[in-house]
Amino acid sequence: MRGAPRSCALAVGVASALALLLHLWVPAGPPSVDLRDPPRLPPPPRGPARAYPHVPFRLRRDVIELLPGNGCSCAAEPGPLPRQLFGPGRGAVDFGSSFGPGERRLQQQREHEFRSYRRRVQSPADRLLIVRANSPLEYPAQGVEVRPLQTVLVPGLSLQAPGRESYEVNLTASMGTLAVAAVVEGVSLRGEGQPHLSMATTHLDHLNRQLQFVTYTNTLFHPDTADIVQFCTHGHEAAFAIRIRHPPAPRLYGPGDSDGDGGYNVSALVTIATKTFLRYEKLRGLLSSIRRFYPGVTVVVADDSPRPEPLSGPHLEHYVMPFGKGWFAGRNLAVSQVTTKYVLWVDDDFIFTPRTRLEKLVDVLERTSLDLVGGAVREITGFTTTYRQRLSVRAGGAGGDCLRARPGFHHRLAGFPDCVVTDGVVNFFLARTDKVRQVGFDPRLRRVAHLEFFIDGLGVLHVGSCEDVVVDHASKLALPWRRSEGERQYARYRYPAARDDSLSLKHRLFFFKNRFKCMAGN
Ligand SMILES: *[C@@H]1O[C@H](CO)[C@@H](O)[C@H](O)[C@H]1NC(C)=O
Ligand SMILES: *[C@@H]1O[C@H](CO)[C@@H](O)[C@H](O)[C@H]1NC(C)=O
Repeated sequence: MRGAPRSCALAVGVASALALLLHLWVPAGPPSVDLRDPPRLPPPPRGPARAYPHVPFRLRRDVIELLPGNGCSCAAEPGPLPRQLFGPGRGAVDFGSSFGPGERRLQQQREHEFRSYRRRVQSPADRLLIVRANSPLEYPAQGVEVRPLQTVLVPGLSLQAPGRESYEVNLTASMGTLAVAAVVEGVSLRGEGQPHLSMATTHLDHLNRQLQFVTYTNTLFHPDTADIVQFCTHGHEAAFAIRIRHPPAPRLYGPGDSDGDGGYNVSALVTIATKTFLRYEKLRGLLSSIRRFYPGVTVVVADDSPRPEPLSGPHLEHYVMPFGKGWFAGRNLAVSQVTTKYVLWVDDDFIFTPRTRLEKLVDVLERTSLDLVGGAVREITGFTTTYRQRLSVRAGGAGGDCLRARPGFHHRLAGFPDCVVTDGVVNFFLARTDKVRQVGFDPRLRRVAHLEFFIDGLGVLHVGSCEDVVVDHASKLALPWRRSEGERQYARYRYPAARDDSLSLKHRLFFFKNRFKCMAGN
């Protein structure tokens, strides 16, 4: 009994000695990197590097107005407006003013979010670099890229200096180390394998030979950034960017078996996606019209009706959602289930006809760099619409930017006489599935919404429109007393009496999410 405490104490002593040893042996883990506050880039140079105050000049107002300034405005210009966005009879909307007294607070929150967004997305690769005149330093201005934590040869380094007794160059990196893949006789190296590499020699040729072997190794992990490397010699300095990133992995789709005569196998390449709410008669009409022309194409239906009706048939996927999740949520769900290269968006009240030639839209996306191409929708009146919209944004300083939407297109698409390039199209379009997912449909938009997707897609989607691929719009203009019960309910939800609700939600999203100050059309 008396021996127990002693052996216990001994055991504790041994254990703690072991723990201490273990503690001492633990290899030092990799250093931690603080990603909370990304490095602040130096501000871009303001104005020209040298001023020439004695040389007078005259400003050209007409040209200065074209430059991005600190303000923009949304004066309406005459012409048709995208009514869906503006509400009836308005040519310009000032988003801020629709929030009343809460606007200031909202704007402060927005600027706070905007600053942290900017810090997250800024990259040293976007930094302005200016090359000073007459530098004897030769270096790669752009295009050097390395994968995170890997090594590359830095091409294009040399010194083109007049003859002198000795030559020295220094290279300094901040997110990696520099080394040489070969050593050249007569060149003394300092700092190999470190961020600062120095080379000195008495023979210029030897130095330049040595510079051909310089390597850069990224040591500070980041999936997408850049290291600005300083390169200097006596009296001259230069800087160049080495891009550090994982090139985005491609997502490739097999072509599908061709239909034999060199055409596209639409079933293998395209999934048709739609969202329905109550209008089962319309939806069944759409499905049977699709089957007439494309019996093997998969159709994905997202449905948030209160009492979903069963739908069945080959190549049909019916996803039932909680009641009233809304229009964009349904689009998101439908698109999330697509496994083909392309997705065709249709509304549930469209009807395929012989003019709904999906091969033609597939051909445009297969043979051009466009990401999305719209067709035309024929109303029962016989009037056809492509709803082409050009979108532009002007920088507007702290108050937010200005959005402008104008009907029309940017240019015709060579090789496709019926097609043009624009920014927004009608609810009938074929798109690269990955690209649509990348932009996504904001599920906060529950009711009438469409162009919002293309606004979120600015800078991501390259959009075309072809007027010779046409889908019919089933009787949207049906007289109210001839509507079925489903249609009557649909109208109550989709066009509620208090329409202003959904309009003010849109304005809030434009103001806060997209940081627009105002919007105009002409
Ligand atoms: C190169 O860097 C070293 C320090 O490593 C410094 O002493 C030398 O002056 C630098 N040379 C030039 C040309 O900048
Ligand atoms: C087209 O693709 C579908 C789906 O991948 C396949 O079942 C069908 O056999 C293909 N048709 C032809 C003609 O190759």
